[in-house]
Amino acid sequence: MRDAAHWVRWHETYEDPDSALSLRLRLVQSEVREALDRQAPGPIAIVSMCAGQGRDVIDVVASHRRREDVRARLVERDPALVAFARRRAAAYGVSRHVEVVEADASLVCSYAGFLPADLVLICGVFGNIGERDIRGTVSKMPSFCAPGGTVIWTRHRRPPDLTSSVRGWFVHAGFEEVSFVAPPGTVLSVGCHRFVGGSAAAGSAAGGNSQDLDPDLRLFDFFGDGALPA
Ligand SMILES: C[S@@+](CC[C@H](N)C(=O)[O-])C[C@H]1O[C@@H](n2cnc3c(N)ncnc32)[C@H](O)[C@@H]1O
Repeated sequence: MRDAAHWVRWHETYEDPDSALSLRLRLVQSEVREALDRQAPGPIAIVSMCAGQGRDVIDVVASHRRREDVRARLVERDPALVAFARRRAAAYGVSRHVEVVEADASLVCSYAGFLPADLVLICGVFGNIGERDIRGTVSKMPSFCAPGGTVIWTRHRRPPDLTSSVRGWFVHAGFEEVSFVAPPGTVLSVGCHRFVGGSAAAGSAAGGNSQDLDPDLRLFDFFGDGALPA
C-alpha cells in the first residue's frame, strides 16, 4: 500500500551500509565522481530525475574539486524528501550549487535552465516505468545532454531483464558505454553512458539541442512502488 510516507520509508534502507541499496548508491556516487573528473574546465550542469534524498549528487559534489563549477537541479515530487535533500545540501555546504525542486520529474519543463546538462541521473526510475517509457526517455537523452555529457542510470535485473535492451537503446541514440556494473549476488545494476553523437536516431550529430525539446513533453508515467529490492 502506498501512503504519503511510502517513498520516505523506501529511503530508510540507505541507513544500512550493508544493504543492496547502499551498494548501489556507492556505485552511482563513484560514476558521478568520475563524470565530474572528466569535465573540461567551465560550468557543469547536473540534473537528477526523481532525486529522492539526493545523496548521490550532494555527497559527491560536496567533496569534489569541481564543486564551485557545479549547478545541479534535483527534481523530486515528495515534499518530505525534498526537505531532506535541501537539509542535506545545507549540511554539506552545497546549497548554492544544488537546487532541490518539488516538481514532476517526468516533465521536460522541470529541467528548464539546466539543459543541455553535463550529467543526467536517472536512478530508481527505470524499474518503476514501462518499457516504452524507458525507451522513449533514452531517445530524448541526446537533447538532454551536452556534447560529451554523461547519463547514469539504474535498473534491476529481475526477469524480464531489460538491461541489455537499455544499453542497446543508449548506443542507438548516440552514446558510448562508459561502464555497466551488475554485482554478483544482487539484482541491481548501474549503467553509465556518455553522449558522443552521430546517430541518425539521435536526430543530432552534436547533441545539446535542448531547444528542440517540447517543454510540455511528458517522458514517463511513474507507476512503480519500489516494493521489490533495487
Ligand atoms: C526509487 S526512488 C529513487 C530515489 C533516488 N533517485 C535514489 O536512487 O535513491 C523513486 C523516487 O521517485 C520519486 N518520484 C516518483 N514519481 C515522480 C515524479 N513524477 N516526479 C518526481 N519524483 C517522482 C519518488 O517520490 C521517489 O523518491
